[in-house]
Amino acid sequence: MSKIRDSWGSKIGIIMAVAGSAIGLGNFLRFPAKVAANGGGAFIIPYLIALFLVGIPLMWVEWALGRFGGGFGHGTAPGIFHNIWQKNRFIRYFGVIGIFGPLVIFIYYTFIESWTLGYSAFALFGKLAGINDQTTMQNFLRGYQGIQNNEFFHGLGWAYLFFLITFSLNILVIYHGIKGGIEKLCRWAMPLFFLCALMLMIRVLTLGTPDPSKPDWNISNGFGFLWNPDFSALLSAKVWLEATGQIFFTLSVGIGVILTYASYLKKNDDVVLSGLSAASTNEFAEVILGGSIVIPAAFVFFGPIDTQAIARSGTFNLGFVTMPLVLNKLPWPEILAFAWFFLLFLAAITSSVSIAQPAIAFLEDEFDINRKKAVGIFAVTTFILCQPAIFFLKNGVVDELDFWGGTVFLVIFGLIEILLFAWVFGMNNAWDEIHKGANMRIPKIYKFIIKYITPGFLIFIIGMWLWQEWIGIIMMKTVADTDKPYILATRIGLIFLFITIAFLVKIAWQRKQQQGVAP
Ligand code: PHE
Repeated sequence: MSKIRDSWGSKIGIIMAVAGSAIGLGNFLRFPAKVAANGGGAFIIPYLIALFLVGIPLMWVEWALGRFGGGFGHGTAPGIFHNIWQKNRFIRYFGVIGIFGPLVIFIYYTFIESWTLGYSAFALFGKLAGINDQTTMQNFLRGYQGIQNNEFFHGLGWAYLFFLITFSLNILVIYHGIKGGIEKLCRWAMPLFFLCALMLMIRVLTLGTPDPSKPDWNISNGFGFLWNPDFSALLSAKVWLEATGQIFFTLSVGIGVILTYASYLKKNDDVVLSGLSAASTNEFAEVILGGSIVIPAAFVFFGPIDTQAIARSGTFNLGFVTMPLVLNKLPWPEILAFAWFFLLFLAAITSSVSIAQPAIAFLEDEFDINRKKAVGIFAVTTFILCQPAIFFLKNGVVDELDFWGGTVFLVIFGLIEILLFAWVFGMNNAWDEIHKGANMRIPKIYKFIIKYITPGFLIFIIGMWLWQEWIGIIMMKTVADTDKPYILATRIGLIFLFITIAFLVKIAWQRKQQQGVAP
């Protein structure tokens, strides 16, 4: 079967696209919120350890696996896993997570992305500039989210409108394919994004001590909140899981997205330097830009206690509540707030188009459906799936989806990938595969890390976390009684979605067998 797959236009194009996928709401909303909710400096230690022991190795592994799979015409995990371990008939079902995970993220990610577009418009039209206290700003957000009525919002009308626009823009980009859509978008969006981010960072760094009656709430203590190490939380498996989950989420690894992007590479395209460049660009955007904007800004205006409380009220709330308030205290708040939310929008759309790719590549590669039709099927399906996230956000559905799709499954999928590559494919083969066409060599120590440390670390974290928390999670201990039916329904929905994709994998393989083509 000599089907022509899409491809990237240039090397810098793919690095920009992977960096675009990695840099997103994760860097500017999720990271600061996770840092704050997990006690600042207590979070950063596991975070950095996970970056070097798990994130970067997985980046290389996924680039290599993706390029390897692309050579067989497979851009998603079921096919790639099958080619790694052909004797095992069941392994392709483990690959289901690599399509399921991104779908789950897409369902809520595009909705939150649409808030950033909505808020960009509100900023520009001065709707945010008059709000000067936290309660009103929080109520504004709750009004927008349809949780509570206020004079401006009567239900989800605006939110829904911006969702429709955002969703359509995503579909439009995806419709134009890898080179013609995604690469083009990233080429102009990424530089623009960096410009906005640098401007905001410089503004925050020069905040000083805005409230003289609270001398402790100054910018250097804001940084201290993030960077002063705190060893007390290191015994909590949850902090480790959250930090590792954040590394996965922010680097877009452990989910199948990089597999698909890398499957459009050519056989001898470098993956070592490209993977590392994309990962470092992302970490710069997360730790330096993301870490220097929201957290210190929230800290100097609200202090440590309130910052934590806002972060805990919802993973994505901190950036929507605190940032406009902070910017309102400065000259030209409309422009600054617009820059902030538009930056978020740019970062988000270059990520959401990547999150859509595995499902589309799956339809194209395994069912021989052409791209336009695949995008059509994807659009209709995800549009329907997004609805519960929109209408039941207030019942915790988004955070629930984010917990499974954005944390748990990533860690599990990452473990499967690394075991397959280092142990089934074999570490020596893996090392050679990674270095095909490479522009630099990975330090030898990583051979050991990839084989033993990365999987060991993941097994340990998953094990500890299950041991400490599984009963509470199954029994929904931290869920409010009124939300329990919604959370349960979300979980049942997720199981159903998983089974459906597994079933599609089964059909795809049966078809190939009937047609006599090697899967
Ligand atoms: N990395 C993106 C972010 O930080 C989100 C993402 C997750 C993208 C998983 C692709 C896959 O926002």
